[in-house]
Amino acid sequence: MQLPKDKKAIVTRHNKVVYDCGESVAKVFNATKPSSDIVNEALNLTRAEQAGIDVPELIEVSKSGNNWAILTKKVEGKTLRQLMDEEPEKIEGYIKQLIELELSVHAHRAPLMNRQKDKYVRMIDDASDIITEAQHYELLMRLDGMPNHTKLCHGDFVPSNIIVREDESVCICDWAHATQGNGGADCAITYLHLMLNGEQEIAESYLRLYCELQGCSVSYVQGWMSIVAAAELARGRVAEHDYLLSMVDVVDYV
Ligand SMILES: Nc1ncnc2c1ncn2[C@@H]1O[C@H](COP(=O)(O)OP(=O)(O)OP(=O)(O)O)[C@@H](O)[C@H]1O
Ligand SMILES: [Mg+2]
Repeated sequence: MQLPKDKKAIVTRHNKVVYDCGESVAKVFNATKPSSDIVNEALNLTRAEQAGIDVPELIEVSKSGNNWAILTKKVEGKTLRQLMDEEPEKIEGYIKQLIELELSVHAHRAPLMNRQKDKYVRMIDDASDIITEAQHYELLMRLDGMPNHTKLCHGDFVPSNIIVREDESVCICDWAHATQGNGGADCAITYLHLMLNGEQEIAESYLRLYCELQGCSVSYVQGWMSIVAAAELARGRVAEHDYLLSMVDVVDYV
């Protein structure tokens, strides 16, 4: 794909840059990112769309120079992250919107999507050189004991991945980590993300309300925390290493 000269970087990360190209948005990965991950992300996006979710339209997966890139149609609007930052007095309403949206995604099915447990087993294995052998064993046992569900799970359900259009309809982007499985894992990821973002109070009220609306106990979701924390460690989140490692260690919850 040919990117326009006047493209603007929306975010720059260690392994990619996301560009606003006017009519479209290009997610351009660096050479260290396996091409299979990029094709999988595009496939997840189309599977979520097929399941009935409002997602950015896929235009193209191809190379921009030596780099693989995913091109989607630009969705005009503001992310829920922007709205939360701009209007902190409305935070409660935005958190409720985030949860209702998350639960509505979980109500969908995508039978061809990768299985959540397979993904977490791989990621716990990938974290082997960071965690102890005992932690590794404990996490795999815990994961194995989790109820098997087939809910569509986004895998990174955070406010920056929700785009709210002017007409208030909502589009969900960034399906790189999507699977089918247990919604409790998604909730634990959202909670961890808010905590890592320094939003402890918001994280706690998010967790309480999610459990109330979903009809599950907080300890049920907390059971997922150590598993998703290990998965985040496997992703190489260096800055958050100590906090994530402390979450891996939390074994018994009240
Ligand atoms: N099609 C789109 N239309 C409008 N904005 C988009 C679109 N795709 C991405 N964005 C914006 O770009 C930001 C970054 O894109 P994205 O979330 O896909 O990457 P990322 O967060 O770096 O990915 P990852 O979580 O896999 O590291 C999003 O938060 C959103 O604001
Ligand atoms: Mg994102």
